[in-house]
Amino acid sequence: MNSVKNFIIPEKLPRHIAIIMDGNGRWAKTKGKPRVFGHKNGVVSVRAVTEAAAELGIEYLTLYAFSTENWSRPSFEVNALMALLVDTIYSEMETLNKNHIRLKAIGDLSGLPDSTRKALLDGIEKTKGNSRMTLVLALNYSSRWEIVEATRKIAEKVEKGDLAVNEIDASVFAQHLTTSMIPDPELLIRTSGEYRMSNYLLWQAAYAELYFTEVLWPDFRKEDFYEAVLAYQQRERRFGKTSEQLVTP
Ligand code: FPP
Repeated sequence: MNSVKNFIIPEKLPRHIAIIMDGNGRWAKTKGKPRVFGHKNGVVSVRAVTEAAAELGIEYLTLYAFSTENWSRPSFEVNALMALLVDTIYSEMETLNKNHIRLKAIGDLSGLPDSTRKALLDGIEKTKGNSRMTLVLALNYSSRWEIVEATRKIAEKVEKGDLAVNEIDASVFAQHLTTSMIPDPELLIRTSGEYRMSNYLLWQAAYAELYFTEVLWPDFRKEDFYEAVLAYQQRERRFGKTSEQLVTP
């Protein structure tokens, strides 16, 4: 098959790709189905993208599965999403292990229902020895929450005398975020034609290339993922420098 994958340069892959999976509700609506139907089909996309990322050699894939703001949705939808997460984690555990994928989570896990937290911690424990790729689920996550938490932890250290104020820099700050062991994402994808960050990895995505697509999340497949990676590879990443400065002699 003539796949976009053939145009991807293996030496220029991003190490970390973050995704805002959006459009499940609208996708379901176009089919005259309840929103939860969209979330269930969204799991098919999660599987496809996880597989595509691992096959390409991406080291970290972070998916925004539930934001702090999502609690304000109807309780029926919230409960269904939580149950779907539990089901998915248990049903995919074997596949994750077979493919040497490690599960991790970021967010305020203490705010999750017990059954969801348990499934998650179980999944993390049972896959912790895998090293091909890390799949990070952002759950009950929001950047502002995370930044405030980091500030609190740093302030506590200063108060105790364990850290001096003049030692605080970007690197120290990043070490206090929930992503401390994860490199910053170089590519951030958002589906469904929305052009927002929605409180997602605001600190970490400071230099990320942003890729937006009209495709609704439940329709997002491997080829769509390859398109995003290819678009990333065709961009010039300057980090504040000029184009000329990037040309190495
Ligand atoms: C956004 O679509 C999607 C979510 C808030 C949930 C995403 C969850 C999944 C795909 C299922 C579980 C995932 C994992 C990782 C096991 P939306 O509901 O905001 O859609 P809309 O914008 O069309 O209303």
